[in-house]
Amino acid sequence: MIFARKTTTPSPAHAARLIGLGSYLPPQKVSNADFASRLDTTDEWIRTRIGIAERHIADPATATSNLAVEAALRAMKSAEVEHVDTVILATATPDHHVPGTAPLVAHHLGLRQVPAFDLGAGCSGFVYATTVAAGLIHAGTANTVMVIGAEKMSAVIDPADRSTAPIFGDGAGAVVLTAGRVGEPGALGPASWGSDGEHADAIYIPDGGSRRPPRTTDDPKNRHVHMKGNEVFRHAVRRINHVTQEAASAAGWSIRDIDRLIVHQANARISAAVANTLGIPPERVPSNITHVGNTSAASIPLLLSHSAINGELSAGQRVLLASFGAGFTWAATTLVWPSGLQALT
Ligand code: COA
Repeated sequence: MIFARKTTTPSPAHAARLIGLGSYLPPQKVSNADFASRLDTTDEWIRTRIGIAERHIADPATATSNLAVEAALRAMKSAEVEHVDTVILATATPDHHVPGTAPLVAHHLGLRQVPAFDLGAGCSGFVYATTVAAGLIHAGTANTVMVIGAEKMSAVIDPADRSTAPIFGDGAGAVVLTAGRVGEPGALGPASWGSDGEHADAIYIPDGGSRRPPRTTDDPKNRHVHMKGNEVFRHAVRRINHVTQEAASAAGWSIRDIDRLIVHQANARISAAVANTLGIPPERVPSNITHVGNTSAASIPLLLSHSAINGELSAGQRVLLASFGAGFTWAATTLVWPSGLQALT
């Protein structure tokens, strides 16, 4: 297979620098025992095949915007800023088809009339969104951008489907990025990203969009996520391997230089396979999937936040973010972890 190289390089003048990091999980936890009690599955199967023991699920009154606002408030506090000039919300589970959820989030944050928009790139949404934010900062269109990954995956998962229900969880993570210098600690390096729509039906919701509008469909199952798990697994390992190598090389790093690989938490076996193939020691690959499941676009900022809080990320480390998701989409970028960044959760 030939992989096309798609790498963006920031100009020397304006890189996007990480100055704030926050995350939020809804309080209710659902353990594997809950699935085992009502589906043909076991705690052992879910732990060994996926690596998940529990996940957080939002209550019916909570929508993605609520999760996003909580994470964003923590990111702003972490950054010690009261204003950002742009909001990008990466999500596959917006509050409504129309309007976008980001303007509502900006409104609840008290940000008056700032540009705010949703970005849909499945589980790669957050790294896509940081790449877009970096481009806006590079162009001088934005100075300080709030990038949020937030999902209420429980809203789009069929609770009776054992092949998807145990995998996903709800949550949100956010970062504040501001104009900085290329190469300084916290500055995002070149991004590598791509997509392959040939596999659009590998993870998708068949009904409810313009292809099959709600009025023409009546099977509730088709309003939930359908996934070819095995196919996704194989592509995820291959693409994450490749995009990690691309982003490392664009940053001028070898794979050995990566101190921390922050990889999308899809399945613990996917992360292990990537680390193994690339020769990255497991202790350099932090994980929180056991306690949060696959939170799609929220996965990377949640893992960043949890890793920073539990001391797995420290100043000066070379950190590579790598993601893969529905579309298919994939994206990766790098940064040297800054000093003095206090993540809040
Ligand atoms: N409990 C018990 N058995 C289950 C199960 C569950 N929760 N889910 C699936 N199975 C069964 C399947 O029905 C199948 O049974 P069969 O052989 O009788 O047909 C068997 O396990 C093997 O299925 P398969 O899909 O080959 O298993 P797998 O090892 O690939 O694991 C996933 C399935 C979904 C966990 C795995 O493929 C995966 O994690 N894929 C990536 C998903 C993902 O990350 N998606 C998000 C996008 S990034």
